[in-house]
Amino acid sequence: MKVVKFNLLLFVAFVSWIFVMAAESTHSNPITKGNRRGLRKKHNGPCEAHNSIDKCWRCDPNWAHNREKLADCVQGFGHNATGGKGGEVYVVNDSSDTDLVNPKVGTLRHAVLQPQPLWIIFRSTMTIRLCQELIFSSNKTIDGRGSHVHIAGGAGFMLQFVKNIIIFDIHMYDITPGEGGIIRSNSTHFGRRGASDGDAITIFGSSDIWVDHCSFAGTFDGLIDVVARSTDITISNCHFVRHDKALLFGASDTHPDENMRVTIAFNHFGKGLTQRLPAVRWGFVQVVNNDYTHWKSYAIGGAKGATIISQGNRYVAEDGAAKEVTYRKKAPKSEWEKWTWRSEGDLMVNGAFFVNSGNPNWAAQYKGYPLMKPEPAERVPELTKFAGAAIGCKVGLPC
Ligand SMILES: *[C@@H]1O[C@H](CO)[C@@H](O)[C@H](O)[C@H]1NC(C)=O
Ligand SMILES: *[C@@H]1O[C@H](CO)[C@@H](O)[C@H](O)[C@H]1NC(C)=O
Ligand SMILES: *[C@@H]1O[C@H](CO)[C@@H](O)[C@H](O)[C@H]1NC(C)=O
Ligand SMILES: *[C@@H]1O[C@H](CO)[C@@H](O)[C@H](O)[C@H]1NC(C)=O
Repeated sequence: MKVVKFNLLLFVAFVSWIFVMAAESTHSNPITKGNRRGLRKKHNGPCEAHNSIDKCWRCDPNWAHNREKLADCVQGFGHNATGGKGGEVYVVNDSSDTDLVNPKVGTLRHAVLQPQPLWIIFRSTMTIRLCQELIFSSNKTIDGRGSHVHIAGGAGFMLQFVKNIIIFDIHMYDITPGEGGIIRSNSTHFGRRGASDGDAITIFGSSDIWVDHCSFAGTFDGLIDVVARSTDITISNCHFVRHDKALLFGASDTHPDENMRVTIAFNHFGKGLTQRLPAVRWGFVQVVNNDYTHWKSYAIGGAKGATIISQGNRYVAEDGAAKEVTYRKKAPKSEWEKWTWRSEGDLMVNGAFFVNSGNPNWAAQYKGYPLMKPEPAERVPELTKFAGAAIGCKVGLPC
């Protein structure tokens, strides 16, 4: 009897050990491995919203009747962006881009050129190949929810001297330079324009911009360039892959963008990236709760006294690539040690490291800035689980 009891005990202990081992190997510490596989693929259950921006609008089955609610959800420097809120809904039903001076009603080009606020949505899933850069007028939202909208194989978006733009749930990839020509730039003016750069989005002399839940890959030039005194911008919940020079903020060494202020939050910087995630000249950038899993040469670079506050991010260095997150361009230590670049509560994985400089008590200097409160870096894989455009919203169901 005793022997049977003892054997039973041994057996139970053995079985529990197998269960514990199995459980350990399945979550084998995803936080410190940089592994995101399966994060979103597994998802077919009820609606999930993990970060403070998503929680503001997702999971409402009535989202399609209340699209403008989104405009209340932006945080960080872009928080004043209301896009086309209060304006009419414009339904894009035509994916062509043939007439650059008098675009057809129903095309995206016709929509963004209108002078009044518009909330622009899409009748169906479509791929739009822009013949030339798409020049925006102020007070517009592009809202891809409910359709899969791809801007691909042609020119990109040009936000030039405009205010108040929201770009939401759009795929942009394989953007190429437009050769220029006669193009309408607003409802009352058209004229000859030179070639465009081949950026996915150029933000030129513009402010109050929010880009959220977009996916970017493989363009000719940058993915998002912020130049010529643009400011008050939030880039959140986006997914970046396959690019050499993703984000360039402050393009010129000689035309200072001192007042440029940008928030980068809840994005995933993934496969095939090399550098500039972002690169910043001048200005102030808060980089908060992003997931950096790939950078070949550096993640965050800068010059010209840029201020970079990095909080609650996860930086996972790749094997065989640079371990240093930071890069200071063309400056001796005596100069860059005055630039405020601070890492606070970031999670460093696989040897990744961030070289701090400047004022550790920077916060006192920037009271009143709309800074986002960082969540613990351990939560980053969850906070960024749905980064990118493929959020699969269906009318009548929670997203
Ligand atoms: C947002 O609007 C307020 C009130 O108009 C203004 O004070 C502020 O500078 C604007 N921009 C930012 C980034 O807070
Ligand atoms: C798109 O909608 C506009 C306005 O309702 C209409 O004039 C146009 O014919 C439509 N185009 C297509 C391709 O359905
Ligand atoms: C955008 O909308 C705001 C608020 O409705 C308005 O004050 C402003 O004049 C508009 N801007 C342009 C360029 O139409
Ligand atoms: C339209 O564009 C022209 C040329 O860029 C500019 O001078 C004019 O002020 C713009 N008009 C509006 C309403 O934005």
